[in-house]
Amino acid sequence: MKKQLITSALLYVNGLPHLGHLVGCLLPADICARFQRQRGRETLFICGTDEHGTVSEVGAAQEKMPVADYCKKYHDRHADLYRRFNLSFDFFGRTSSDQNKEITYRIFHKLDENGLIEEKTTKQVYSPDDDRYLPDSYVIGTCPYCGYDRAKGDQCENCTKVLDPTDLIHPRSVLSGSSNIEIRETKHLFLNLPKMESELSNWIETKKGVWPDIAYSIAKKWLKEGLRERGITRDLKWGFTVPKAGFENKVFYVWFDAPIGYIGITKEWADAVPGRSWEEWWLNPDNVNHIEFMGKDNIPYHTISFPATLRGTREGWTEVGFLKGMNYLNFAGGKFSKSAHRGIFLDDALTEFPVDYWRYWLIANAPESDDASFTFDHFAATVNKDLNDVLGNFINRVLKMTSNNFGTVIPPMGPVTDAETDLYAALDTLVADYARYMENLEFRKAMATLREIWVSGNNYIAKTEPWKVVKTDKAYAGTILNTALNLIRLFAQMAAPVMPETAEKMLALVGEPADFVWPTEKMATYLTTLPAGRAFLPSDPLFSKITPERLEELKVKYKETES
Ligand code: 2FM
Ligand code: ZN
Repeated sequence: MKKQLITSALLYVNGLPHLGHLVGCLLPADICARFQRQRGRETLFICGTDEHGTVSEVGAAQEKMPVADYCKKYHDRHADLYRRFNLSFDFFGRTSSDQNKEITYRIFHKLDENGLIEEKTTKQVYSPDDDRYLPDSYVIGTCPYCGYDRAKGDQCENCTKVLDPTDLIHPRSVLSGSSNIEIRETKHLFLNLPKMESELSNWIETKKGVWPDIAYSIAKKWLKEGLRERGITRDLKWGFTVPKAGFENKVFYVWFDAPIGYIGITKEWADAVPGRSWEEWWLNPDNVNHIEFMGKDNIPYHTISFPATLRGTREGWTEVGFLKGMNYLNFAGGKFSKSAHRGIFLDDALTEFPVDYWRYWLIANAPESDDASFTFDHFAATVNKDLNDVLGNFINRVLKMTSNNFGTVIPPMGPVTDAETDLYAALDTLVADYARYMENLEFRKAMATLREIWVSGNNYIAKTEPWKVVKTDKAYAGTILNTALNLIRLFAQMAAPVMPETAEKMLALVGEPADFVWPTEKMATYLTTLPAGRAFLPSDPLFSKITPERLEELKVKYKETES
């Protein structure tokens, strides 16, 4: 089995992450990493903040801070939020690190040696009113391809087409709004993507039916339009200075060093503890499976320009094996907006509900095959039904019935009937289905199956009626409640990648340590494991329902009804 290298897109350090970012890359990557570890596979989960580019320069200027301090401040903020969401990174680093600089230079020099870097004089947007060159994303205008009137100069978010600012119709500055825009000549370095076009095209073709449709089709669309040389340097101060004569006053473009950041951050991780090796992950393509998670706007960079960057060195870097591209999560059909206080940002989310309510709802409704929308009605319905009525209620009833009839200890197994053997058979199938969906990163299907696993517990209790049986056949009542307590253990292990905090509490209820291990035994064995006589904890309910009154308050507070 290959080692599993898992990366989530590195979000821009200046932005405040919302639920859409969480479900678009961070959370599915975390669930994948947790699942891989639970299966006993060697796993490395890498993430960090993307810190270069004008957004950081402008943000720092607005806060009157040195850019480096500004980046550190927001890096720490991201790290804190992700820790509170229980994202289990092995390392959360930074694209501005010395390690990333070293790797970026190494890759650049190799590309240059291999004849893939070109010098060109280009025309670039200069804004006299802002007194600076405007980077691509700070010029907006009308997309020449789809007519969207707020397309950015680096990419149209409406049609995902990658653009140059000079492509835009009616360009204007995002900073001042001024359309007094000059085009000045400046010299830049370019990565010669056309030279690698057929190689990339052949490689992408091998991903047909393997990667999610969205990842394959966006890459194909880009290839079909014909690859162009991509500028990899910019006229900015903040960034890695370009190590080439004549370009010392320029820095690398943020999209050149950001994906290399996965490697740089792995080196940060390796450098932190003697004996670790970043090369074992990144220069080891035969033994490493790299799984990438990202929103759809990132897909062209990770299917074309970054693979070209790595391939062009001819050094044998580990390349993406599976690219999980996600659509967007919207807020009640519209966009998240911090300035309008519309939508739910990660800091707000945790003040409202426990982390696992969010993790469960988000992944059960992940925007996998299409864009999805968050509404409080749907959120409350899911929490109330799946977490309270199905899972929580099962746990409460089982613990209560057991302590009322056997005391707070696990009762002994009595005779086994068809009800139990049917349950074992059904669960053997459901657990295998669930594992397969998790393996394939089909999260909605996985969560529907997880829910079915929980439902099977309720069905078993409804069918066997232990509250009646206990009056006539205490030995068989012991079988039912022993089985049900074992089900709590199983349900915890199944929920662990998604709801790690809740899973830990559930395991503690039946006296099990917080070790997350995937079942390898058949259910006939697995569900008879807990030792009879072991004390268990009486517990308060693990979940609580969201009342209609609370729901109305939330809708008003987060402006759900306004679009
Ligand atoms: O879309 C974004 O937020 C980018 N900063 C993602 C970069 S992913 C990787 F290349 F670093
Ligand atoms: Zn467009």
